Amino acid sequence: MNETIMLEKQYVLQTYNRPDFVIIGGDGVWLVADDRTRYLDGGSGIAVNALGHGHPVVRAALKEAAAAPIHLSNLYHNAPMAQLARDLCESSFAARVFFANSGSEANEGAFKFARKYARAVLNRTDKTGIVAFSGSFHGRSMGAVAATATEKYRAPFEPVMPGVTFAAFNNIASARAAITKKTCAVIVEPVQGEGGVTPADDDFLAAIRRRCDETGALLIFDEVQCGVGRTGTLWAHEPFGVQPDIMTVAKPLAGGLPMGAILMTQAVADAIQPGDHGSTFAGGPFVSRVARAVFSTLSQAEFLADVRHRSDYLERKLRWLVKHHPTVTDVRGRGMMWGLLTTVPAANIVAAAQEQGLLILSAGANVVRLLPPLVISEAEIDVLTEKLSLALAEVG
Ligand SMILES: Cc1ncc(COP(=O)(O)O)c(C=O)c1O
Repeated sequence: MNETIMLEKQYVLQTYNRPDFVIIGGDGVWLVADDRTRYLDGGSGIAVNALGHGHPVVRAALKEAAAAPIHLSNLYHNAPMAQLARDLCESSFAARVFFANSGSEANEGAFKFARKYARAVLNRTDKTGIVAFSGSFHGRSMGAVAATATEKYRAPFEPVMPGVTFAAFNNIASARAAITKKTCAVIVEPVQGEGGVTPADDDFLAAIRRRCDETGALLIFDEVQCGVGRTGTLWAHEPFGVQPDIMTVAKPLAGGLPMGAILMTQAVADAIQPGDHGSTFAGGPFVSRVARAVFSTLSQAEFLADVRHRSDYLERKLRWLVKHHPTVTDVRGRGMMWGLLTTVPAANIVAAAQEQGLLILSAGANVVRLLPPLVISEAEIDVLTEKLSLALAEVG
């Protein structure tokens, strides 16, 4: 057995089922395994590698960042973090940013800020409820997993953070009933990822916004997976014409380095005092410098227009697959985030695709999930869909 696989099986906690190859290199949308097999990366490290592998912008930023202090702690000012915060605020609804190291940590902070806002600004100690939705995924830590709908992620670890109730996603009546005067925050993914690649209906986010305003609850958009260009607009919520009070982002933000961020309005920021929250590594100069370079590329209007153009091409190709493979009943998504609804287990299609040299993901039992790097070309989309078509033919 390959030594890496042997060591992993013996020493690493077995929380993931990994395939039996080891990736040793990557270039653009391609990954190379130790036996020289080339895989087209249709998952981007779960929506992280938006610029693919070995992108010159990331390489140059890494080199520059390595020549400066790597870590300073949050006890001191650091220029890249302050500049990145400005970049994020100037490109969004937000007035302030708190940095974190992951999506889960960003959501934890968002919940804390919402609870503090209810106490400090609204003067309400009983306004602690958090409403989340069916199909949601917000992370694995005790607060984030409490707001994650999938029972099997949550149940073995109870008691998790109390106060969370679930409403039905895309069901306005259910959301309105769940959000009450005792709700301090509502958390929703504008396009659900792990739950099955499900975009919110056109009027759903606006209806939640209205209900939050009626009840004094804060609206949190979790754009950890769908944000920063993934759906073809910088923020996934843009086309809905609705703004949150808080937004969490993470995955693609720092080109593969761990970084999360909580963006918020000034009203939310006003509730937070020095000492209320912190994080040792978060927003360090190394990761922030790289994130600035990545964000300046991903946020360019021309880059995003080009993603949308290639997304249309990918969508046409995926709709062709629906017509020609009876195991695929529909396709849904936005930008470079797509789900194929399948009549057979999605895991079987993921395995068959791997045999064809294509790495993709599932999102629940019957949804195959595609999250290719945002830089994928039309010619590479052709290769992706050909490989997927072969995999579907084999499974179907
Ligand atoms: C929408 C969403 N929120 C939060 C998370 C948790 O992020 P992390 O794994 O970085 O903690 C994920 C991870 O998949 C996610 O998709």
